[in-house]
Amino acid sequence: MRSLLITGIGELTTHAGEGVLRDAALVVTDRVEWAGPASAAPAADSAWDAEGSAVIPGFVDSHAHLVFAGDRAAEFAARMAGQPYTGGGIRTTMAATRAASDGVLRANLARLVGEMRRQGTTTVEVKSGYGLNVDDEARSLRLACEVTSETTFLGAHVVPPDASRESYVELVAGAMLSECAPYAKWIDVFCERGAFDVDESRTILKAGAAAGLLPRIHANQLTRGGGVQLAVEIGAASADHCTHLADSDVDTLASSSTVATLLPGAEFSTRSPYPDARRLLDAGATVALATDCNPGSSYTSSMAFCIALGVREMKMTPAEALLAATVGGARALRRDDVGHLGTGAAADLIVLDAPSSLHLAYRPGVPLVKKVLHKGVWV
Ligand code: NIG
Ligand code: FE
Repeated sequence: MRSLLITGIGELTTHAGEGVLRDAALVVTDRVEWAGPASAAPAADSAWDAEGSAVIPGFVDSHAHLVFAGDRAAEFAARMAGQPYTGGGIRTTMAATRAASDGVLRANLARLVGEMRRQGTTTVEVKSGYGLNVDDEARSLRLACEVTSETTFLGAHVVPPDASRESYVELVAGAMLSECAPYAKWIDVFCERGAFDVDESRTILKAGAAAGLLPRIHANQLTRGGGVQLAVEIGAASADHCTHLADSDVDTLASSSTVATLLPGAEFSTRSPYPDARRLLDAGATVALATDCNPGSSYTSSMAFCIALGVREMKMTPAEALLAATVGGARALRRDDVGHLGTGAAADLIVLDAPSSLHLAYRPGVPLVKKVLHKGVWV
């Protein structure tokens, strides 16, 4: 692949949290070939001048539900008028998703992934979970495979209205898993009151692991259940949400390799208290930020918005929030080739319409992503 020299970088973040280079340059192919001071830059096949912009790694959005049809704007409006969020709306999206053609689902998925890319997300995880029968879960994952290698089987999102609890757990851990496993890297369960309890979640995740899938869990979103403890017990890559944590949950996460993935778009859109990022960081846990993009609890595709919420509402420093949205997401996906711009990493980067990455939180809601490079190609 031809090499590209990016010159005139006002502030280069190769690895969030590790300091920045001023007046820097980068040479990339589909990988990062070289990063350093502009004065020492080697020659390349072509060059592009960033004219003083800040450059940061592409965002890694490690938690998104993008295969669905319909929207639930009315449910959002009802919440803003005082209704609580229960997760019951998942069944509304299930009905719309089952009724949609492949073409409709594919177009909605492409629209959302495009929206994400233009906002700087270069790696995205995509879950199933709105099919909730064998054919529609497998279909959701086949479509997800068309846009990302980070696909997650979430047959255990809720028990669908047309199944009994016991038979559904058996189906998810049996025939549905067999049908879906070829299209999934990960397996996830919504471990929550009203969804799946700890024992059901363990059964499903262990069956997934036996089929070669790696576990991750929706844990402690609405209540302080046993999801976080289960995540660490089974070595899940990530426990997602972590909104309701006891001290013992924080300690357990901090002494494990399970990433605490925080999804502040969900608390924003359900008007709920934010997770305590400060407590997790101070205890030494690895924290990721992700969008949770879905039509119910968090219909945002913007990692910059999540960074701004992390800083303003969750007491993260701007550097911690950027780290969580890049390296943190990569850790949650057990990847070391994305989320940073060290030599050899994927050439996934964002050119900001700003002199520094601080502007992501300092200028909330402003479209600061000027250009995005994905695997060495301008988006
Ligand atoms: O992560 N909590 C479970 N699943 C999604 C919400 C899904 C929905 O409401 O459609 C979440 O918040
Ligand atoms: Fe989610």
